[in-house]
Amino acid sequence: MEKKQEERLETIYQNFVDNDDNIITVLQEIQNEFGYVEKEAVEWFSQKTYIPTSKFYGVITFYSQFHLSPRGKNIITVCCGTVCHVKGAPKVISKLKDELKLKGDDQTTRDMLFTLEKVNCVGACSIAPVVIVNDKVFGKQSAEKMVKNLKPYQENYQSLKN
Ligand code: FES
Repeated sequence: MEKKQEERLETIYQNFVDNDDNIITVLQEIQNEFGYVEKEAVEWFSQKTYIPTSKFYGVITFYSQFHLSPRGKNIITVCCGTVCHVKGAPKVISKLKDELKLKGDDQTTRDMLFTLEKVNCVGACSIAPVVIVNDKVFGKQSAEKMVKNLKPYQENYQSLKN
């Protein structure tokens, strides 16, 4: 582990001790600091606190807010609840995966510009199918509409195409 990374973890550890923080707070701080929860960081913390790594992973897997791998600059969230599913979410996902050149279970583009995620009903069934890009909600999306709506986010669009 790099010295700088360890120093950042030390700061989080100090907060943990000073404020009698819990695992959730620690993981939130790690994620805020590094963009995701690195395996190395969990191991470091586990050794330092004598809390088994399984406790950390239990929390990470329980809460969808935690991510074990780096995420892209833009997060595309496709609702896959029943109504969105029936109204075409699978087609939207398939088209987006093509456009972003995501293969298999890949969620994040190679240039780290996008991460594509699926969620259950986001509570906007009347405008299904729903896609959220960062904080912006796009309702009644077809695969083609969504590709169009993604263009402004695609600063590196051409490099994705090459
Ligand atoms: S199922 Fe997608 S918003 Fe409800």
